[in-house]
Amino acid sequence: MNRAQALLSTALLTLGAVNAFATEAPRVVHQDGLYALMVDGAPYLVLGAQINNSSSWPAILPKVWPALEDMHVNTAEAPVYWEQLEPKPGSFDFSTVDALVMGAREHHLQLVLLWFGTWKNGNMHYVPEWVKTDPRKYPRMINAAGEPIDVLSANSNTNRDADKRAFTAMMRHLKEIDATNHTVLMIQVENESGGIGSPRDFSPASNKEFAGEVPADLLKVMGKPRGNWSEVFSGKADETFQAYHQSRYVNEIAAAGKREFDIPMYCNVWISYPVAELPERQIPNPGIGYPSGGPVQDMISLWKAFAPSIDIIGPDIYSDDIGFYRQVLAAYRRPDNALWIPETGNGDSYAPFFFLALGQGAIGFSPFGVDHTGWTFTDNGPKAHTENFALISPMAREIAKLNYEGKLKTAVEEAGATSQELDFGAWQAAVRFGFPQPDGHRPPGTPDHHGRALVAQLGPDEFLVAGVDASVAFHVPGRLPGLRMQILRAEEGYYENGTWHMTRLWNGDQTDRGINFKHAGAVVRIRIGTF
Ligand code: DGJ
Repeated sequence: MNRAQALLSTALLTLGAVNAFATEAPRVVHQDGLYALMVDGAPYLVLGAQINNSSSWPAILPKVWPALEDMHVNTAEAPVYWEQLEPKPGSFDFSTVDALVMGAREHHLQLVLLWFGTWKNGNMHYVPEWVKTDPRKYPRMINAAGEPIDVLSANSNTNRDADKRAFTAMMRHLKEIDATNHTVLMIQVENESGGIGSPRDFSPASNKEFAGEVPADLLKVMGKPRGNWSEVFSGKADETFQAYHQSRYVNEIAAAGKREFDIPMYCNVWISYPVAELPERQIPNPGIGYPSGGPVQDMISLWKAFAPSIDIIGPDIYSDDIGFYRQVLAAYRRPDNALWIPETGNGDSYAPFFFLALGQGAIGFSPFGVDHTGWTFTDNGPKAHTENFALISPMAREIAKLNYEGKLKTAVEEAGATSQELDFGAWQAAVRFGFPQPDGHRPPGTPDHHGRALVAQLGPDEFLVAGVDASVAFHVPGRLPGLRMQILRAEEGYYENGTWHMTRLWNGDQTDRGINFKHAGAVVRIRIGTF
């Protein structure tokens, strides 16, 4: 270590000492099909935001941190660029990593680092120049016409080992600067990996392999009889071939990184969208509508089997169609996979989906493109996501714990469903959107269906309720709200460092016909009883 590095380490350690950040390594745990990201021994809810792609530079970071603070996030997602980290083969520059870690600590944020290595959005744009300019040594994917494309080949050990060397160097450095603080909670390995421009590699070596028998380990995982790739996987053969190679490529990089510093690692996914969902994604074919080889909806099982060092596979969701959003959450919420939304739209129409994800047990949710560089926002930033995070952040730990214990349910308004039931067994919660409605009318809903609410059971007759433009009325099964039941006490308040503080009792118009949340949102603890 030279003098400058020694000074930097001392500075980092000093900064670490003034912040009460995690002292145990973060880890992903599960029980009874429920997941949690454990940080310092307790479940942690990632209220995240991802900064823009070119914003991780020390000169730009001053425009990043205030935007994250304004949004009430607790965790920043920021890229680390291979081209910047390894400007010459074997020579590493950790200044970006250091700036991110130090900046996060100064701003009391946790971090998720995104490794922009071999893949970024199905291309190879972040590989160093010395890789880009030496295709003989670092081969590109070859398309069916026999032409190289803008994607580094997943079928090359040289490529994989080059990426692995840089990634492990980053993880080794991270261990040096972060093993006592754990500012960094997770690492994203690659970004939306896969190939845009071809469903698989058509190099002579890959063609030969593709004409041969499917490996026994893959047959076993997929429960298929022997045969060559086309016989076994027919129309899915090219994509499955690519996913088989790519998942093992990514796994080897992640496993090597974990040997240096063992913290949770995940992959994000450019998912498959329905036809014409977005203009640029009209054809849902691998290599056209999404990068081929990545862990899209129907490749999750393969990836789980061949990338065991990847703790979580998380979908990037850029559709505000609530039906499709629900489908994607259902696809990635699995007994073998924690639900984690590493990227989603930052617009107001996406904000209710935070509650949707929470109701499915998500460990975190992170809108994309949040900073003050003017790239995504010309004003102050996301409005409705900020309202959500402001409401939840003081009690994020409580929410994560209740969710891990399976005690939390949510309701999200959608067209034609302005009244929804949450079932807690002896109690039910009727959630209505668009309060107040005139007597004799059905709940009208909000103009753009943005209502949302969460209800968590604290005891047999006690609940924590929070919402925005929603009304929550408890009742016993089979009876309407208000019949043979009563509110004993409804406290509006907030959590601070795990302790509940009451600000006032709610009664009258605030609780008649339901706990009535206006647009500002509120948190209420309620005790109810029967008579
Ligand atoms: C998904 C990618 O993962 C991000 O890095 C960014 O390019 C966004 N798309 C832009 O919408």
